[in-house]
Amino acid sequence: MTPVPRGVAPDLASAPEVVLARGGLLGQPMWLLASTTSTNDEAKRGARQGAPHGATWVTEQQTAGRGRQGRAWLSPRAESLLFSVLVREAPLPARLPQIALVAGLAVRDAVGRSLPGGEVKIKWPNDVTVHGKKIAGVLVEAITSGQRVEAVVVGVGINVHTRAFSEEIAERATSIALASAPGADPPERVQILADALAALDADLHLVVARGLGIVRARLEAADALRGRRVRSDADGEGVAAGIDEEGRLLVRRSDGVVERWMAGEVHLVG
Ligand code: BTN
Repeated sequence: MTPVPRGVAPDLASAPEVVLARGGLLGQPMWLLASTTSTNDEAKRGARQGAPHGATWVTEQQTAGRGRQGRAWLSPRAESLLFSVLVREAPLPARLPQIALVAGLAVRDAVGRSLPGGEVKIKWPNDVTVHGKKIAGVLVEAITSGQRVEAVVVGVGINVHTRAFSEEIAERATSIALASAPGADPPERVQILADALAALDADLHLVVARGLGIVRARLEAADALRGRRVRSDADGEGVAAGIDEEGRLLVRRSDGVVERWMAGEVHLVG
């Protein structure tokens, strides 16, 4: 059995063994850390040092966790599931948003298993939401050489045990503990991690090779924005009409024209 560092809580401590027993390509080797700056930093460092495809870093605490668009990702120690996976594939740069979407879908599925009956959705580009509140986020970062993507780091943060969020985000954030049915067993982070890695493993390679085709129906079923009025500072306003094969958000403007939004922050209107 891998030695468990002090400071790793029991519901995460058996992660290396549980994930190994599932037999997938992702999650081994696994480093379980009491604290680090960011698991994405660990994965990038590991990549430079020759870590293999699927290597995964999991931590109880990040001192410099980051989210999309340069935002900080803050999570109280031992309350979240924070991990990064090294993907040793060399996708075209245009595939990166698609990898983020398939990672979001895997996280959605894993969170959904912990919340039977819960409305777990994907809010484009890569938030996972429950009843409109964010429960998880995905940060995909490329390891590049010139214009070429040499490998990819998929970083995931899932709010698991948190019961009180800061005033600033309390209206927009939730956790598995808060969204669970009254009297439900406390969530086990090790199971959520094993489920997320297995779900990502099932689709990742095909998405890297061929794009979103194999997951489009599932993405459509999980799309939190479809049919909703959305606004983006960069692109304006319209009604979300799905996600295309490139991972772009389709938005129908009031004049009927369908635009394809590439990235950025989308807000629900009304
Ligand atoms: C977002 O919603 O903006 C993405 C958040 C991603 C957070 C995770 S936590 C594990 C990994 N390490 C980081 O520093 N960020 C990602």
